[in-house]
Amino acid sequence: MKKDLLGISDLTRDEIYLILDTTEAMREIGQRPIKKVPTMRGKTVVNLFYEPSTRTRTSFEIAEKRLSADTLNVAVAASSVLKGETLLDTALNIEAMTPDMIVMRHASSGACHLLAQVCKSRIINAGDGMHEHPTQALLDAFTIREHKGRIEGLKVAIVGDLLHSRVLRSNVLLLTKLGADVWLSGPPTMIPVGIERLGVHVSTSVEEAVADADAIMMLRIQQERMQGAFFPSLREYFHVFGMTAARVARAKPDVIIMHPGPMNRGVEIASDVADGPYSVILEQVANGVAVRMAVLYLLAGGRDGD
Ligand code: CP
Repeated sequence: MKKDLLGISDLTRDEIYLILDTTEAMREIGQRPIKKVPTMRGKTVVNLFYEPSTRTRTSFEIAEKRLSADTLNVAVAASSVLKGETLLDTALNIEAMTPDMIVMRHASSGACHLLAQVCKSRIINAGDGMHEHPTQALLDAFTIREHKGRIEGLKVAIVGDLLHSRVLRSNVLLLTKLGADVWLSGPPTMIPVGIERLGVHVSTSVEEAVADADAIMMLRIQQERMQGAFFPSLREYFHVFGMTAARVARAKPDVIIMHPGPMNRGVEIASDVADGPYSVILEQVANGVAVRMAVLYLLAGGRDGD
């Protein structure tokens, strides 16, 4: 493994498969009565989240504790960031306390790359702006492989706010590297210019994108990142792009419905689809712990602790 996990763009196919295979072993630990191994005993991991998070922060913390790391969460809202300290100064001060790893989420694309350049600690990107969210894409791939037995050759439709989504970018990079047939759909105003150069199909027709799909991944409408109106109303958005049972019926009979969360029910996805028989949304969350254990383990050197 490299020093840091900054994005899927840095990973080879073999490295992705190594993480997915290691995740299988880590998941078994989570099924034991005592869900703890000494692998990261004596290692310190700092979770530095500048943006809200439920799933990623919690699952990193659970993963760190299951591997016996000493883990601490920096509450940015209660830190000297509010007194004007820069990201770089905050990072260098945390670094001075010699943690082994820093898991960071930040609103600016590339913030983790900056940290990786100045810190000896290993940096894990937990989502940087509209750039990448590598562990989300890894847990998505693990979930797809668990259900379908493979990624190569599958049709995966990704629907929603394509423009503001770091989840989209990491998933496109990962799924195309592993040979999936990736279809994107969303409003024309939310399709990133030149995205098809990444080897994906793009359609403004959800019906076309989901036809015979093996997996449908819905993306959240990220109103907090929008400046201006990208579509007339949330009601109209749901009418044209929302995932309804009728649209799901166009996919393969064994399609899986995915969403990275948090969900806007009734905006990008109907509640009966989110909670329905094809949904694997909570399985994605469960798999997130094992994927993050695998990433921590491999970055720590892939050896059990003394
Ligand atoms: N999927 C995801 O990143 O969720 P959180 O924002 O809750 O971490």
